[in-house]
Amino acid sequence: MKQKRSFLTTTDLTVAEITRLFRLTQQIKKYPISQRLRQKSLGMIFQQSSTRTRISFEVGMTQLGGHALYLNQNDLKLATGETIGDTSHVLSGYVDGIVARIFNHEDLIELDRYSQVPVINAMTNDYHPCQAFADIFTILEKKVRLKGLTVAFVGDGDNNVTNSLLILCAQLGVNFSLASPQKYSVTTSILSQAKAFAKKSGSYIRIGTDPRVAVTNADVVATDIWTSPDKPDMQDRLRTFPPYQLNKKLLSFAKKDAMVLHCLPAHRGMEITDEVIDGAQSAVWDEAENRLHVQKALLLYLLGRK
Ligand code: CP
Repeated sequence: MKQKRSFLTTTDLTVAEITRLFRLTQQIKKYPISQRLRQKSLGMIFQQSSTRTRISFEVGMTQLGGHALYLNQNDLKLATGETIGDTSHVLSGYVDGIVARIFNHEDLIELDRYSQVPVINAMTNDYHPCQAFADIFTILEKKVRLKGLTVAFVGDGDNNVTNSLLILCAQLGVNFSLASPQKYSVTTSILSQAKAFAKKSGSYIRIGTDPRVAVTNADVVATDIWTSPDKPDMQDRLRTFPPYQLNKKLLSFAKKDAMVLHCLPAHRGMEITDEVIDGAQSAVWDEAENRLHVQKALLLYLLGRK
């Protein structure tokens, strides 16, 4: 019996494992249907709504011959005070894997601690590793290589998507150039983790506030939403972020064949314009579809272990 493996952040897997997973993803995309997770069940706890993550995991399990249960937190006794640890202990006696979208990353760690089966992070306030995997896989598909490429990210430097993408880029030798308002820049703990990986992989990380500087000569330009209703500083964010909008003018500073990523949902006309998201350089629909393929590879890797 091999030890349980979970995927709470991209650093739970080695570079060699990630490379193998991307190869497996390519195969799965070509041959999507199998019975490799036949009779396996996946419990999916969601404290927040989701379009992409929920549907891609659910469909992914079906395509692999297994079954997924969507568990809104109100469907569970979590809502009436049962602890995360007890919930995890019980749930992992029924299912073969747990996918969890939980606000607090420490709660996800707690859930994993009490689980006898693999736990996959479906997004916490700090990390969104499945999204980062889909982003990098999409880049690999389009650019054929990763090492030496530069990903520019403009907008909120202190969110789960940026954190996971920054760290995964650093793990894989992809340069990362961030432009965000000073007060919404990446946290020192995330940056120091990323810098340690970048030193090992030979990539560079550039942190700044000027979106044109960040985007100049980039191979990939990515952005994400500026705010959400749960942010206490929503009004400040709406005043601060407009210079970071990904529009045609800003994109013109990147390489001519630069691709555009956005994890979605997008607030069109805010962080990204219609002409960019719908333009020839946009890869956002492939990026969204690739959530399905990379997560199926992850499910096979983690749940298929004997
Ligand atoms: N990008 C993403 O995680 O989308 P959902 O919130 O719809 O799952």
